[in-house]
Amino acid sequence: MSQTVSRVLDEATEFLASRRPRSPRLDAELLLAYVTGQTRTQLFTRAFEQLSAAHLAQFQDLLEKRGQGAPVAYLIGWKEFYGRRFVVTPDVLIPRPETEMVVEETLRCVARSGLARPRIFDCCTGSGCLAVTLALEVAEAQVRASDVCPKALEVAAENLRLHNLERRIKLFEGDLLKALPPETQRYDFIVSNPPYVATDSGPRPEEGVVHYEPNLALFGGRDGTDLLKRLSQEARRRLNPGGWLVLEMAPFQIEGMEAFLQEQGYQHTQLTQDLSGLPRVLSGRWEA
Ligand SMILES: C[S@@+](CC[C@H](N)C(=O)[O-])C[C@H]1O[C@@H](n2cnc3c(N)ncnc32)[C@H](O)[C@@H]1O
Repeated sequence: MSQTVSRVLDEATEFLASRRPRSPRLDAELLLAYVTGQTRTQLFTRAFEQLSAAHLAQFQDLLEKRGQGAPVAYLIGWKEFYGRRFVVTPDVLIPRPETEMVVEETLRCVARSGLARPRIFDCCTGSGCLAVTLALEVAEAQVRASDVCPKALEVAAENLRLHNLERRIKLFEGDLLKALPPETQRYDFIVSNPPYVATDSGPRPEEGVVHYEPNLALFGGRDGTDLLKRLSQEARRRLNPGGWLVLEMAPFQIEGMEAFLQEQGYQHTQLTQDLSGLPRVLSGRWEA
């Protein structure tokens, strides 16, 4: 029987549609592109070529895993974030589109600050997607990043190599800002997408997320704000006067966290919406 790229993709799409209906065609294309070492565009131009038995067997195996719920990014080992590729493994959260709003808001604040060489700290860096993106978008920035998980930091280090940033970004291991040596200079921007899923309230993430992604990257205490609050408090001693804290969180946490930031002395608090129009990023200026 003919096993052309086109036919195999059609059948795979049908199979995934019955199990993972969100983006079956895209998932099938990404998996087949990975197996054959081609881009998705190349797959279109070779639609009527036959697949080898070895490629077919590897593709069937990945398809099965995807059908059971394994995220495509872990199966192919990368995810796109802000238009760039990032290596991902099951030790790191898969970068999400809503986190691109942290980049957007930070870039707005950098522009407003007028600083040519801002010092930026990405706390809870995971894959390093925020640190790398900000270093590439703000050419003269000095960027540092931290995570409590050594395996996540290995992935971040791989992404620094991938984007040629080993000399510009330093990584630290440890709990929030305690990861930094005490004598470190202060920062102009502290940005973070910390774990903020609530264990007792708010919307639960999809089952697959909890099953496949590192729980250390997800859960932030009963209402999800434990790390957000701790980081906001610690950041006051690590921000330069006039520096900005930029945090991602769940929409239902925004109002309470905005009040918390104001109580802590942050000013000019600002909300940014994600692509679904939900408030997702909160920033505040440290004036003291
Ligand atoms: C939600 S993930 C964010 C990863 C990445 N910044 C992103 O946006 O895709 C949160 C990260 O925080 C790290 N983490 C959890 N608790 C931490 C702590 N107490 N101090 C520092 N990092 C922590 C986890 O290991 C995980 O990599």
